[in-house]
Amino acid sequence: MRIAVIGSINMDLVTRVDHFPQPGETLRSEETGYFPGGKGANQALAAHRAGADVAMVGAVGADSFAMVLRSTLQNEGIDISGVAIRGTTSGLAFITIDPVGQNTIIINPGANQLLTNSDVTAARMVIEGASWLLLQNEIPWSVNESAIMLAQELGIPVILNPAPAFIIPEEIYPLLALLVLNETEATAITGIAVSTPAHALSAAHNLIARGANEVLITLGVQGAIHLCRSGEIFMLPAFPVNAVDTTAAGDTFIGAYAVSRLSDDHAAALRFASAAAALCVTRPGAQVSIPKREEILDFLAHSPASDFADI
Ligand code: RIB
Repeated sequence: MRIAVIGSINMDLVTRVDHFPQPGETLRSEETGYFPGGKGANQALAAHRAGADVAMVGAVGADSFAMVLRSTLQNEGIDISGVAIRGTTSGLAFITIDPVGQNTIIINPGANQLLTNSDVTAARMVIEGASWLLLQNEIPWSVNESAIMLAQELGIPVILNPAPAFIIPEEIYPLLALLVLNETEATAITGIAVSTPAHALSAAHNLIARGANEVLITLGVQGAIHLCRSGEIFMLPAFPVNAVDTTAAGDTFIGAYAVSRLSDDHAAALRFASAAAALCVTRPGAQVSIPKREEILDFLAHSPASDFADI
């Protein structure tokens, strides 16, 4: 079971505040930490910890963060031969966390923005033979397009997480096996204000009508909804946990889902991914908070069954 990820690698500067600042407001934060993150790297690690062999393609800078970012992935056993070093700063994410674990994130892309189509071509060998290719929106869109075309040629199904939200060119939808997005991204892309499972279902229908094969929309504590082109719908409420930091919950969900879907059915994969995300939000930080396969299975074994719901 091998998964390829092309995407961002960031150092997250995370600080806790008692509320998010208003324009013109100066706030004092309580504690600040540096955590390896980036949506691409987080999803790579999540898939690896959930049980897959993973190859990561991305770029870090020529700074002191780069070594930490690369070694964090490499020490886990992720293939980083496709991670380039560029003569600039590594990607940075400035993250604030409020008392209920919600976050705001500002990205400075740094080296992620210098990833090129040639990097994708050069990584062909590590992408070839993968069961999934995972993409997000923290690298240049032209690189994602090259990756989608290469995946088409190699017959590799693509999961796109359009985060941050970006209007996807219409011709791309039919080339995606699965689109995974949160309520904010679904709202931005479809124009449908998504705040409930019913809204999410409308947004998912909109994306299927545009050509997407399957759409999975995550709704935080309200859970996740999955719509297939066949019309099959799954709605799973989130597992109730005490959230301290939601950073990387979506990435954890996607990495775990990708792994589980290789051997389980849609419903089991949704449960596995939801359990992984639930564990992630109970701990601070991005990559440090991503659970391993054994923890996810143990959590599922000890959690009251969270039933699929009607919308
Ligand atoms: O999805 C969470 C991630 O978004 C953080 O780790 C941060 O780096 C940003 O990319």
